[in-house]
Amino acid sequence: MNQVKNAGDVNYLKLYFEQFYNEMTPENALILAFLAKVSLNNPGPVLDLGCGPTYQYWNQALVFANRSVGIDLRADNIDYVGGVIKDLRMGNVHSRYLDVSRHVSRVLETLDTNMNSEEVLYRLLNREHELMARNLLHQPWSFADESFQVIMSCFGIDHMPSEDGMRSVLREARRVIRMDGVLSLVTLAETTTWHNGQEVAACLYSDEKIMRSRLRESGFSVDGLKFVPADNPERDGYPGIMLITAHPK
Ligand SMILES: C[S@@+](CC[C@H](N)C(=O)[O-])C[C@H]1O[C@@H](n2cnc3c(N)ncnc32)[C@H](O)[C@@H]1O
Repeated sequence: MNQVKNAGDVNYLKLYFEQFYNEMTPENALILAFLAKVSLNNPGPVLDLGCGPTYQYWNQALVFANRSVGIDLRADNIDYVGGVIKDLRMGNVHSRYLDVSRHVSRVLETLDTNMNSEEVLYRLLNREHELMARNLLHQPWSFADESFQVIMSCFGIDHMPSEDGMRSVLREARRVIRMDGVLSLVTLAETTTWHNGQEVAACLYSDEKIMRSRLRESGFSVDGLKFVPADNPERDGYPGIMLITAHPK
């Protein structure tokens, strides 16, 4: 297998979407439900760390966000998601986003909240989006203390280049999260690599004990931490993921 070199190149994007985002996999369904529940209990501004090319995919679940900021290292990812917003607003909606709207609508119903799938998509398109090409390791970030009700990251903070890097991101997140806000993390679990098609990408090792200690030392208290076995461990190269919520202490 080859090492992934360029997270923004077209081949990477094609493989990445095909493998993880073209169908509503059980794993994605769980993550979207996790995020939708967080959003229901935490209306307000959202920050997505390492939003990558899939910003709109996860952001649809943040139905109760009034403003959403996505940060990614790669300018080409940010350009790409800027283009997706324009396309969606013009009515060019890839089926993957419609699948997400339908799923989020069903999840909300289980939480006694009625919102049809059109409204889920409408809310995504009508909230304010700010997309920034920035290195999360360049700190302080350009946000005031306690600016965000939800800080989320899907497979983002576990892609920092070092343990120190990840901890510094968590500490800065602690500064900009509201005191009654929630940190919602989705990380790969118990692996230092994962597969994108035939290529191998690196990530930082995370498990329950390590994440609890990283969060505690960065000023967060863990509310929930769940290991979920991967849908396709052999193909995707990781045994599972973790869904984590934490609040500032
Ligand atoms: C595996 S991708 C996940 C993307 C997206 N959140 C998702 O769920 O598909 C990891 C992302 O983290 C971004 N990233 C890595 N290091 C970063 C840094 N230092 N600052 C900001 N973003 C970074 C990468 O550019 C990449 O888009």
